[in-house]
Amino acid sequence: MKNYRIALLPGDGIGSEVMEAAWPVLQTLAERQGFSLEGDWLPWSCDYYLKHGTMMPTDGVEQLRAFDAIYLGAVGLPATVPDHVSLRELLLAIRQGLDLSVNARPHRLLAGVKGPLRTDRTFDILCIRENTEGEYAGAGGRVHQGGELEVAVETSIFTRAGVERVLRHGFEQARLRGGKLASVTKSNAQRHSMVFWDEMTDRVAADYPDVAVTRYHVDAIAARMITHPETLDVVVASNLFGDILTDIGAAIQGGLGFAASANINPAGGVPGMFEPVHGSAPDIMGLGLANPLATLWAGALMLRHLGEIAAAEALMAAIEKVTATGAGTPDMGGDLSTTQLAAAVTAAL
Ligand code: NAI
Ligand code: MG
Repeated sequence: MKNYRIALLPGDGIGSEVMEAAWPVLQTLAERQGFSLEGDWLPWSCDYYLKHGTMMPTDGVEQLRAFDAIYLGAVGLPATVPDHVSLRELLLAIRQGLDLSVNARPHRLLAGVKGPLRTDRTFDILCIRENTEGEYAGAGGRVHQGGELEVAVETSIFTRAGVERVLRHGFEQARLRGGKLASVTKSNAQRHSMVFWDEMTDRVAADYPDVAVTRYHVDAIAARMITHPETLDVVVASNLFGDILTDIGAAIQGGLGFAASANINPAGGVPGMFEPVHGSAPDIMGLGLANPLATLWAGALMLRHLGEIAAAEALMAAIEKVTATGAGTPDMGGDLSTTQLAAAVTAAL
């Protein structure tokens, strides 16, 4: 029997609640599908920081390399540890340490779920965001701080290798889906980096003549995601543009309770990290109100990435069987608790 070793990082706040609810669902699913999932719970979190002075052991990233995948809840408890410390030392350290250059997020309405703008289920978008460089490369500095001459510089970094690998992943995904790819730039205003991105898009597109490519400026596609989301399939964007567009994606799919994300290294050889998009939600922690569906959806992305396609599809089908009945947590207008909703998904498997 095939066995996968999964690093479980519940993290903080509702991170542990959604992980503790979702993991047994995945275990039952694996049993039914004829493979096994062996989870190692790793307590790296803000609590860990208070005890040890670091968010994870110094060899944390090295420890993670031994796993087949990483399944993460949420990180951050701003009342105890500042966000720039917790996020940078755990989440970003893992993304950068394992060179998880692609951040993929599916946006569609699950059966029975009503988005704020749409109730019909005609759109199905996969946003692919560059995850390691671009506008978030961190290159820059501040000079004359506090004085009259104060200046701040933040330089975007676009490398040929970095842009090519994220575009190539987008084209591969487009091939597996509807055959359409939207490349997002702002090349009318950013005439160096974004013109380069356009050129790289043309270059990579030559290897995928079966994929239809459309270029959009980021402002235009932001509006299009709201007015005509059904015209989009795979959307590939830089770090900053992708960050903003995926929040629009989460909004049109019904909110943070549904948004799931896969951080992967397309070259392989390291585990991917799969997580809900939401944070630790300190305002509702400990109350059993957290929606576990984003975490379960992230679990389906993980199983698909591991090659367990039938299991991933069975999980999504079970989730939608439940959402179609109108059952859900309070954010969905329902009255189920986190564990009750997860149990309903198990029952629907
Ligand atoms: P948040 O995503 O934790 O919460 C925003 C709002 O959405 C809150 O009102 C919350 O109750 C609600 N919400 C979030 N997830 C939900 C769920 N599954 N079910 C029902 N309601 C849900 O964002 P916030 O409050 O800005 O950040 C809280 C902490 O989380 C901070 O420390 C922040 O840095 C961290 N964070 C961590 C992320 C990660 O680990 N990937 C991502 C975003 C924030
Ligand atoms: Mg964001």
